[in-house]
Order: sequence, then structure tokens, then C-alpha cells
Amino acid sequence: MKKQPHFIPALHFHWLTRWYDPMMRCLFPESGTKAALIALAHIQPGQIVLDVGCGTGTLTVQIKQTEPGAIVYGLDTDLQVLDIARRKAEQAGEAIILQQGMATCLPYPNASFDRVFSSLMLHHLTRHDKQQMLREAFRVLKPGGELHIADFGKPHDFVMWLISWMMRWFEEIHDHILGRLPVFIMDAGFHPVEETAQHRTLVGTISLYRASKPMKND
Ligand SMILES: C[S@@+](CC[C@H](N)C(=O)[O-])C[C@H]1O[C@@H](n2cnc3c(N)ncnc32)[C@H](O)[C@@H]1O
Repeated sequence: MKKQPHFIPALHFHWLTRWYDPMMRCLFPESGTKAALIALAHIQPGQIVLDVGCGTGTLTVQIKQTEPGAIVYGLDTDLQVLDIARRKAEQAGEAIILQQGMATCLPYPNASFDRVFSSLMLHHLTRHDKQQMLREAFRVLKPGGELHIADFGKPHDFVMWLISWMMRWFEEIHDHILGRLPVFIMDAGFHPVEETAQHRTLVGTISLYRASKPMKND
């Protein structure tokens, strides 16, 4: 078995990983959030799409089902979730390419993707690694390509504030709830950067972000 670098697993502890999908179905408006994220990306046939921190592959498979003509890659550092993702894709009969790798050092050449997605992965990374992941997403996108993120965002009402301030003891979300994620995305070179939606969940506000890599002459 390949040695895995240090990372925070899907549900914090490796022994909880097999409960990730059932938990997400119960606690989270998962399919709605993921469908909204995909819809905003307007993926076209023939486009090449990467899902960074793909976990059990729910979003990766959903992208392929939404646009069967796209070539869809899923990358995660955890072999255990990649096994679940592989089985899920087989059961759905969807051909996606799953690979092990780190979000902070993407194993792809410059300008290889039209769209990069990242759903609920950034809050697993330290501030330094979030910024490095965003620079890597910028590097692997083609000019004019887009980054689509769903992750903890600035709470949008009092209840969301309360939940988010508690959640920050467990997750790397301090910068997220202070609204710094769009700043980090811009610092990586993206322009424009927009927060397109805020979803109320039992773990706090989940924001959707869309960011473009400028064309060379922009
Ligand atoms: C909460 S799960 C989200 C999974 C999936 N994207 C979703 O929306 O359901 C976070 C995932 O990020 C992965 N991850 C954490 N650190 C990573 C890193 N440095 N590089 C790549 N994947 C990482 C974990 O293995 C886990 O599968």
C-alpha cells in the first residue's frame, strides 16, 4: 500500500470515513448544494474538469452525470475515500478518472483544466495550505478557466454565527468565517471572485464561490 502524507480525513478520524456518505445525507443539503455548484459552472462537452479533495466522489460523479461529454478527474490524498469513490462511479456506470495526490501540489501540468471544483476540502487545510492549493488551482487552469468552491463562509445570520463560532474549535474555519476566503482566492490571481450563494446548514453557513483565471490579455 502507498504511504499517505499527513492530512485530515473526511470526518476527522479514519475509522469514521465509511460513515461519511450516510452522515452527509442526514446532516447536509448535499445534493442541492452540489447541484447548485455544478450549475454555476456551465460545463460544456469536451471540457476537462478537476474535483480537488473529491472524497467519496459524490460531486465528481454528479459532474459527469450532468455533462457526460466532459472529461472528469477526481483527486484526493486518502486511498480509503478513493476506494469508495471508485465503487460509487462503477455502480453509477460513470467513467471518471480518480487519482491520489495532494491539493497543495497538484500532479498536473500548467493550464490543463477548464474547470476546477473543490467542495468542503479547504477547511481541512491550514491557512498556508489553503493559499498554496488556490495557487495550484490557478496554475492548472487554462486562461479563462473557472474555479468553483463550496466551503464554510462568513455566517449570514445570528444562528449561523453561533454555530460557526463553535465549529471553529473543530475545523480550520477561522479565516472562512471572517470572510477571508475570497481575499485568498484573489491573492492567488483570480479575477473576478464572487460569492454566488450562501446555504444554511447544521454546521454553519456554506458559501459557494466562483472565480475566473483571466485570459492572457485581460
Ligand atoms: C469533507 S471531505 C469532502 C469530500 C467531497 N469533496 C465532498 O464534498 O463530499 C474533505 C476531503 O478532502 C481530502 N483532503 C484533505 N486534505 C487534503 C489534501 N491536502 N489534498 C487532497 N485532499 C485532501 C480528505 O481526504 C477528504 O476526502
